[in-house]
Amino acid sequence: MALRLNNRIAIITGGASGIGEATALKFADAGARVIVADIQQGTVVERIIASHGKDRALFVHCDVTQESQIQSLVQQAVDFGGRVDVLVNSAGSSFERGYNPLPRVHEMETVDFDRTWTLNARGADGAQREGRADQRLDHKCVIRSGYVLRVSPYAGLARSNVCIGLVAAARMPAYVPSKFAIVGMTKQMAMDYAKERIHVNCVCPGTTKTPLVQRGLDDPVIRAHFEGLHPWGTIGEAQDVADAVLFLCGDEAAWVTGQALAVDGGFTLGWQEQLLYFTGNTSGLSHVGFSFP
Ligand SMILES: NC(=O)c1ccc[n+]([C@@H]2O[C@H](COP(=O)([O-])OP(=O)(O)OC[C@H]3O[C@@H](n4cnc5c(N)ncnc54)[C@H](O)[C@@H]3O)[C@@H](O)[C@H]2O)c1
Repeated sequence: MALRLNNRIAIITGGASGIGEATALKFADAGARVIVADIQQGTVVERIIASHGKDRALFVHCDVTQESQIQSLVQQAVDFGGRVDVLVNSAGSSFERGYNPLPRVHEMETVDFDRTWTLNARGADGAQREGRADQRLDHKCVIRSGYVLRVSPYAGLARSNVCIGLVAAARMPAYVPSKFAIVGMTKQMAMDYAKERIHVNCVCPGTTKTPLVQRGLDDPVIRAHFEGLHPWGTIGEAQDVADAVLFLCGDEAAWVTGQALAVDGGFTLGWQEQLLYFTGNTSGLSHVGFSFP
């Protein structure tokens, strides 16, 4: 049976953990050669090499907020694979987590806004721009299949204000806008690179069980709260999101570009607390004073 990503060369930023890690494993199983770019090494490259062979994975230490490191990443990927076919931007974090209680916009330091935007929005954009620049300068780096995917989420604390398929989240004043920006950049790049037939899409996960949110999920009350935000009554696994990433990066999505795909167990379907109000059950966590772990 033909593998879906046979011999494709895929960079996955943030690939050492969570959604990126699950994506790296899934891509390797689908035949891709994977470059995991992260500030921590993790074990994923070792595991891919153990099951698929030495030439199937490479770890590159790369802080995506540093342009010189992104340049070096793309060069190392080209040295490894001869070109880059797929870029998955999964590196990201929430700097609101350092605040207790979580901040509203006027309570967040400018420096933390900048850190969030630099990592979540410009970091993803930087990797993308570098991939393109390299293609222009060096014909070894042909983005052959041209699938670019961004992981652009809204946060797990979101409660209401569904907006064009995306949502705000209480007291996440830098994280949420930085992720909205990724949706905008996805559409912009899909438009600007359509002539070259480069697909640019993003996935928007609901709360997904990864180290990013694990501390919160260890508390049964908080876990139940998160589960209750999703109509399916569960939170997602990293693999659930990785499956959608695989779809968007494979030939089955050949006619799909510029899309923000919610992978969220129905999280964005509507306002569930309305139901709780009418049934008299208003228990749950209050936004005010709720502190992200
Ligand atoms: N877990 C969720 O509920 C959820 C929901 C929606 C969106 N997301 C988003 O999905 C993406 C992946 O998150 P995750 O849940 O897998 O988290 P995670 O913490 O498990 O993985 C994030 C990875 O990014 C890496 N990283 C952080 N800063 C980096 C930097 N400067 N340069 C390179 N790598 C860096 C981390 O080392 C880590 O390996 C993030 O963008 C996150 O915002 C997560």
